[in-house]
Amino acid sequence: MNVAVRYYTRSGNTKKLADAISNAVSTEALDVSVPLTEKVDILFLGCSYYAFDVDEAVKQFILSNKEFIGKIVCFGTSAMMKSMKKPVLKVADTVGVAVANEEFHCRGQFGKVHKGRPNETDIAKISDFARKIIEE
Ligand SMILES: Cc1cc2nc3c(=O)[nH]c(=O)nc-3n(C[C@H](O)[C@H](O)[C@H](O)COP(=O)(O)O)c2cc1C
Repeated sequence: MNVAVRYYTRSGNTKKLADAISNAVSTEALDVSVPLTEKVDILFLGCSYYAFDVDEAVKQFILSNKEFIGKIVCFGTSAMMKSMKKPVLKVADTVGVAVANEEFHCRGQFGKVHKGRPNETDIAKISDFARKIIEE
C-alpha cells in the first residue's frame, strides 16, 4: 500500500501530528508545498481552521494532486472545531477525490488556550489511529 503524509501548519501544531503519523507508518511527512509524484492509496492530509476555513494552500494541493490521490484521510487541530472533513470534502468532491469517514482531530494551542496541545496523549492517539488505518 502506498501512503503519503502532507500537512499545512502555521504555528506547528498540525506538524506535530504529521510527524507522529510519519513515525507510525514510516513515511516522510512533508508540507503541502511538496506535490505528490506517484499514486498513493492513502493520503494523510493535515490542516487546521483559520477563520472557519482551511488555508488556500490545502485546497490547491487537493486540486493539483487529484490524479495521484486514492483516498484522503483527514487529520488536524483547531481551537473550537471538531472536524476538518467539511472544508476538505467541499474541495475533494469537485474533483471526485474520496475522503475517508475516519479522521483524527484534536485541540491545538491557540494563544493561551489549549496550552501544550497536541500533547503526548494526542500523539499516542494519532499514532494508533494511523497504524489502524493502514492495517484496514
Ligand atoms: C488567524 C487564526 C484563525 C483561527 N481561526 C480558527 C477557527 O475559525 N476555528 C477554530 O477552531 N480554530 C481557529 N484557530 C485556531 C487554530 O486552528 C489552532 O490554533 C490550530 O491548532 C493551528 O494549527 P497550526 O499550528 O498547525 O497552524 C485560528 C488560529 C489563527 C492563528
